[in-house]
Amino acid sequence: MIEINGLTKKFKKIIAVDNVSLNINDGEIFGLLGPNGAGKSTLINLLATIIKPDSGSAKVGGFSIIDQPYNVRKLISVSFQDPKLDWQLNLVETLRFHGKVYKIPKVELNKRINELIKSLKLEDYRKIKNWKLSGGTRKKIEVCKVLVAKPKIAIFDEPTAFLDPVMKKIIWDYIKELNDENGSTIILATNLMHEADVLSDRVAIMNEGKIIKIDSPENLKNSIPAGNVIMINFEKNTCKLELKEVKSQLLNLPYISEIYFKENSENTNEIEMKILVRNIKKVTPEILQFFQSNKIIIKNLETTNPSLDDVFFYYTKSLLTNGG
Ligand SMILES: Nc1ncnc2c1ncn2[C@@H]1O[C@H](COP(=O)(O)OP(=O)(O)O)[C@@H](O)[C@H]1O
Ligand SMILES: [Mg+2]
Repeated sequence: MIEINGLTKKFKKIIAVDNVSLNINDGEIFGLLGPNGAGKSTLINLLATIIKPDSGSAKVGGFSIIDQPYNVRKLISVSFQDPKLDWQLNLVETLRFHGKVYKIPKVELNKRINELIKSLKLEDYRKIKNWKLSGGTRKKIEVCKVLVAKPKIAIFDEPTAFLDPVMKKIIWDYIKELNDENGSTIILATNLMHEADVLSDRVAIMNEGKIIKIDSPENLKNSIPAGNVIMINFEKNTCKLELKEVKSQLLNLPYISEIYFKENSENTNEIEMKILVRNIKKVTPEILQFFQSNKIIIKNLETTNPSLDDVFFYYTKSLLTNGG
């Protein structure tokens, strides 16, 4: 449904999108996961024909984003990161207008609008002009624009940013429904690992303009060399070794794949260490032994299975701090 070939976009010296190639299948929910500044929104703006690439090409539903932008625009509907609303319209007018553009029959459209207003708790804002609304409410309307349009290809750029967890879940269900019932192909840009995990059939991890890895959330979690994750918080002032030394001594133990550490943001005397291990039973006693013999006081120890966070940190190394 979408074919991207070597797409590149520069803003002066910044390469926002750097030679990206990927294919998105018909009916797929495709997650674009990356930190702020990774290039997600720029890639979306290229596909939405809002901006032109410096090099490379892409086809959306068979149409070229460079030569056939109007054909592309007919197929897609985009919920932008920063809501693009007509300030003089109110919520109902905005959604009616958007639904008409996408030729949704009137009765169906009104039913859909009323349902969305109810579920997203927008009843109080029906008749208030968009310029008077809060950021969160504008964001909901921006997302609803796509949900009423029911396009062949729906693009959501951080659809739940700044919304509370209950609202996030409601919007996720609507995105899933759009995919399940309308068969829409969906691109979802997010910096929330959990959001990418619960919704996406496949996820591309993006960092500094480049795609680092593409796979299903399950395969991504299995792709990192860790059977398990041990989280240890210890008291910094009881540790006589340099943190670098702690790391290198622990890495000498068998079954340890990778170690990340950082200062606890709420307590500067506490170091949080994340250890990716291949055999948790065999290695845990040895790790405890190391802390004991160095008289380092452990405040907390937890074990978990790898999450999409761990995959992300593994491929972007973005948790490596303190000389790690
Ligand atoms: N219109 C623009 N002018 C200049 N720089 C931009 C513009 N849009 C994006 N950038 C830069 O391109 C990079 C990628 O940005 P963006 O695509 O917004 O990332 P993301 O959506 O992943 O947070 C960032 O370094 C950003 O500052
Ligand atoms: Mg963005």
